[in-house]
Amino acid sequence: MNPVKLTENVYWVGAIDWDVRDFHGYSTNRGTTYNAYLIIDEKITLIDTVKKNMKNDMIARISEIIDPAKIDYIVVNHVEMDHTGSLPDMVELIQPEKIICSKMGEKALLQHFHREDWPYEIAKPGNNISLGEKSLAFLETRMLHWPDSMFTYLVEDKILFSSDAFGEHLASSERFDDEVDQAVLKEELTKYYANILTLYSPLVKKLIAKVEEMGLDIKMIAPDHGVIWRTNPGMALEAYKKWSHNEGDGDALVIYDTMWHSTEEMAKRVGAGLQDEGISFKLVNLRYTHRSDVMRDVLNTSAIVLGCPTLNNGLLPRMAGFLMYMRGLKPANKIGAAFGSFGWSGESVKLLNQAMEDMKFDVVDEGVRIKYVPEEDDLAQCVELGRSVGKAIKAKME
Ligand code: FEO
Repeated sequence: MNPVKLTENVYWVGAIDWDVRDFHGYSTNRGTTYNAYLIIDEKITLIDTVKKNMKNDMIARISEIIDPAKIDYIVVNHVEMDHTGSLPDMVELIQPEKIICSKMGEKALLQHFHREDWPYEIAKPGNNISLGEKSLAFLETRMLHWPDSMFTYLVEDKILFSSDAFGEHLASSERFDDEVDQAVLKEELTKYYANILTLYSPLVKKLIAKVEEMGLDIKMIAPDHGVIWRTNPGMALEAYKKWSHNEGDGDALVIYDTMWHSTEEMAKRVGAGLQDEGISFKLVNLRYTHRSDVMRDVLNTSAIVLGCPTLNNGLLPRMAGFLMYMRGLKPANKIGAAFGSFGWSGESVKLLNQAMEDMKFDVVDEGVRIKYVPEEDDLAQCVELGRSVGKAIKAKME
């Protein structure tokens, strides 16, 4: 198995997971990679490892360069098991002189692997570690996206090993940003941020500001998933900057589920109202679109109009599940509105409005409720709802 050279004596030695389709609820339709990196110097250093079942791929790639037992240091940027599943076996094989991690990383490693006897070394910002000719610097990135997360910067080569940040779930035979389809790259970068980092946008904003303030010269960003940014790291940085500011693009999403097509008809008329106001929109039927793909679109949209009929005094399960998922990710700065059909009790619109208010959406209308099957007069209310949302978007974008 071939390692891939990044710069002189720095190699990608990770693993490509072509098969994974679910990452704790995130649909990884294009698979992923678990990236690990090898630095050859006086102190040979492995940055991150891979998921347990992919250990042999990593060992085979390292073995093309050196005997893995010769590695001196292992850097653990992040303790989640897609990057540490193979760590116990690697520690056994390597018997490293140091396992370099953040203070919270040491704690988390102890709580995962229960090994007091491992040679932990706490990485501190400002305390660089020399490897010989090259040296490592560290940035604390607590809660991006776990308490233990940190970045490692290879000073002489100007490579930022960014752990989960700036990654994508994208399996490919190519390893660099300039080698893959740019539309696919943008789509997967967006989906990754939307589903992993939206909740932490305030911290991303601070981190980007800190990196700018430090004047860190970044030639390459080497994340733990997806491609290595060697040609256009600025694209990833700029995208994160934009997303962390929660700026909507002036479009709307009409997200709905339907029982006997009444709410579906209402969704179409909400769309017609948005169109009347010149607003681009997408209709998203939760039956056909996975929640993590919906979240990708939620990231950039300005308004979310939710539609759901009432079932057993509540919501249809797909909408309830989606709301639970979206609430956890806390998208900010959205305009909201709701609609839905009902037979007798009719709680759904109230529940949708409540959920959006809990997420601090600007709910611009009390919503539209229609009994059983809508007539033209009823549907005209849905068109009006779409127009109201459209007007609110235009006012906000001015
Ligand atoms: Fe790729 Fe948070 O693990």
